[in-house]
Amino acid sequence: MIDILLKGGTLTDGRVMDVAITGDRIADVAPRIEGAAGEVIDVTGLMVSPPFVDPHFHMDATLSYGVPRINASGTLLEGIALWGELRDIATVDEMVDRALAYCDWAASMGLLAIRTHVDTTPDHLRGVEALIEVRRRVKPYIDLQLVAFPQDGLYRTKTGRDNVIRALDMGVDVVGGIPHFERTMEDGRRSVTDLCQIAETRGLMVDMHCDETDDPMSRHIEQLAFETHRLGMGGRVAGSHLTSMHSMDNYYVSKLLPLIAEAGVAAIPNPLINIMIQGRHDTFPKRRGLTRVKEMLAMGIRVGFGQDCVLDPWHPLGSADMLDVAFMGLHVAQMGSPAEMARCFDMVTTENAAIMGLHDIGIEKGKRASLVVLDAGSKVEAIRLRAERRLVISNGRIIARRAASPMNVSLPGRDPVAVNRRFAARP
Ligand code: FE2
Repeated sequence: MIDILLKGGTLTDGRVMDVAITGDRIADVAPRIEGAAGEVIDVTGLMVSPPFVDPHFHMDATLSYGVPRINASGTLLEGIALWGELRDIATVDEMVDRALAYCDWAASMGLLAIRTHVDTTPDHLRGVEALIEVRRRVKPYIDLQLVAFPQDGLYRTKTGRDNVIRALDMGVDVVGGIPHFERTMEDGRRSVTDLCQIAETRGLMVDMHCDETDDPMSRHIEQLAFETHRLGMGGRVAGSHLTSMHSMDNYYVSKLLPLIAEAGVAAIPNPLINIMIQGRHDTFPKRRGLTRVKEMLAMGIRVGFGQDCVLDPWHPLGSADMLDVAFMGLHVAQMGSPAEMARCFDMVTTENAAIMGLHDIGIEKGKRASLVVLDAGSKVEAIRLRAERRLVISNGRIIARRAASPMNVSLPGRDPVAVNRRFAARP
């Protein structure tokens, strides 16, 4: 018995297929599927895609913009200071409310898996308590992965390390870190070793804020690759941001990238926030705030794009739209060929899923029935238009849908028309 049958959709590889869903699984994908179904939905001309996935977010801070004040300088450091004020006045209930409101947005945008860092610095660990509750509440429709994140440094505060352990004991999923924010380079290096060892012992993944700075000498990614290789943790470790790599010496990078590839460390640049925050100490020319995306991809390193921040102490904008993230990443990394643009779409869907260890996401028979139907004909068109979401299905359940909403335009000298910005190349 088929519960939901999607007819005539275009898959991300261009094939036109029917997709049958039974329970929480994709029962079949074929050119023509017949038979009784609980609901048949015509998706002709629309794209049926795996859901969006965000591998880097801060849900304890989201939707707090303006509380207790805005970030006047726009810098990372003022953002961290501002968050330091906010986290001590935020209650568990208030954090849960903000996070759930964000998850509503995410669900409506087809963003069905999110890895969020949660600050473990304050001894009260209210953020951890709140996000564990949110993870439980959204479980039916969003995969929420929590990272124990010592925002103020593992060793810079007296209880920094203890609190990471306490958070992991409470059930946080992933080990985080921030080596470039420790007091010294040496402390940063030690923190990477320490945290990777903790993760290995507990059988957990690692995702560190790593070298989120314009300082070309910030080289903690080197240690992260070394420890990943030493501990045999390839495929379970990610370095987030890696912006210092933008400014590193080219010769050094020619040695570094093969080490990252060999170790199996993934990279998670965050184009919106990186372009907003990096280079703030430069006059002109002003550096771009993004790591070396194309160069890492060419080396076979797995790279995904994250969103990082929405309406919080670091970023005054954001809407849970991973197509915005891909759009910005594509521009700043100068990935303008057809293959590169299509890759950017993968980097906010399937590549991010792989980084998070979610291996049952995809439009294939037997995989989880989680998908998004976009008003686009291709991956590139989806990015160009930041395409409208027409239908979102999570674990076999329709959780969001909307009808086509064309704009009716009347112009002098032109016949009235319903504008459709989709583009078909002329023969
Ligand atoms: Fe972050």
